[in-house]
Amino acid sequence: EGNKLWGGRFVGNTDPIMEKFNASIAYDQRMWEADIKGSKAYVKALQKAGLVTQNEMEQILTGLDKVFDEWSKGEFKIKPGDEDIHTANERRLKEFIGDPAGKLHTGRSRNDQVATDMRLWLRDTINTLKELALQLIKYSLCSHDLTNIEILCPGYTHMQRAQPIRWSHWILSHAVALSRDVERLEDIRKHVNVMPLGSFFHSPELNFDSISINSMDATGQRDFVAEFLFWASMCLTHLSKMAEDLILYSTKEFSFITLTDAYSTGSSLMPQKKNADSLELIRSKAGRVFGRCAGFLMTLKGLPSTYNKDLQEDKEAMFDTYDTVHAVLQVATGVISTLMVNQPAMERALSPDMLATDLAYLLVRKGMPFREAHSCAGKAVYIAESKNIHLSQITVEDLQTVSPLFDKDVSSVWDYNRSVEQYSAPGGTARSSVTAQIEHFRTWLQAQ
Ligand code: ARG
Repeated sequence: EGNKLWGGRFVGNTDPIMEKFNASIAYDQRMWEADIKGSKAYVKALQKAGLVTQNEMEQILTGLDKVFDEWSKGEFKIKPGDEDIHTANERRLKEFIGDPAGKLHTGRSRNDQVATDMRLWLRDTINTLKELALQLIKYSLCSHDLTNIEILCPGYTHMQRAQPIRWSHWILSHAVALSRDVERLEDIRKHVNVMPLGSFFHSPELNFDSISINSMDATGQRDFVAEFLFWASMCLTHLSKMAEDLILYSTKEFSFITLTDAYSTGSSLMPQKKNADSLELIRSKAGRVFGRCAGFLMTLKGLPSTYNKDLQEDKEAMFDTYDTVHAVLQVATGVISTLMVNQPAMERALSPDMLATDLAYLLVRKGMPFREAHSCAGKAVYIAESKNIHLSQITVEDLQTVSPLFDKDVSSVWDYNRSVEQYSAPGGTARSSVTAQIEHFRTWLQAQ
């Protein structure tokens, strides 16, 4: 047990099953760079505090650079007994420089180290995810082709036909959700970018925004991981919702959109099939990430103060979630930026019953209270349904049995363009409102 960082008080060997169970190197080696960066800053602090000499510091720094080199060339060899990335890096440092390596750990524990590494790692990946989310907004959800303002389509609530909208209004609704995710990601950064070793030293080169206030809290909390997992859950909920809509829109029954071959797959049995697997996987990954989030919160719940080994579970949750979101954002950008919009199919799907609200508004404009007008329009819908005709085909005479306020001018209602144009308030479906939304994103994207 000679090579264990904590071997001194042990005489018996660790059971191999326990050894494997305890080790995190298989996954925490991803933080090799953060770990070395943290140690380099740390040894400088030790030197300032007079705990290592200038010469020892230089040896340690040179040694750490060599370890860095091995990792970056893919040449680092993990050895049995390398329990985690912190152990592995220190072991290798000692092989390079000998005894001075032992001074690096003065005054810190792996508990401090792991909290620092996690934060450094997550901080960088936040930038990557933000870039990918912005690309999704810029090149697909807000792209010129997809926000073609001329295309009308049905809007749905409860999956039932509701009112006509502009297709661009639909797609921008998803851009808005995703832009909130980008902003939320920035919000988490504040809680991630805190130096847990702050209770001991503060290093300008690690570029933390602040230092932790309390050492017991610093080593025992993983709020920032939980926040990240929630962030990812929310983001994938949004993408899952969008994927669900698109899967439906890509069915032959709807035919609103066609996915490119690049983001579809076929059936091994039925030759005609073209399945929206890309979107189905996006939808499913939301479940996977929720699982990570709920699972990790469950791990945190009931832990006593400070570090407990349970916290080692933070890493697989964080890495898996990162990898998942990283893939989903790219696939989403690909699948959406290449889909083909079938304008005639969307417009064919509009039907006069979707203008029943406008029929009520016609009466409202003639002075009738909305509640009453709603009821009259509802009666008109009933008449059309029982006569098996379109709402627009009801005669003025029939309408007048519902309300004497109906007149020939009812014909002005049966116009989908007029219908979407009436909602010109901010956030509405009118050309001016949707243009304003697109403008909003142009400015917003520039500010990111
Ligand atoms: N591999 C550990 C983790 O990921 C590092 C901290 C170990 N600390 C300890 N006291 N055993 O959390």
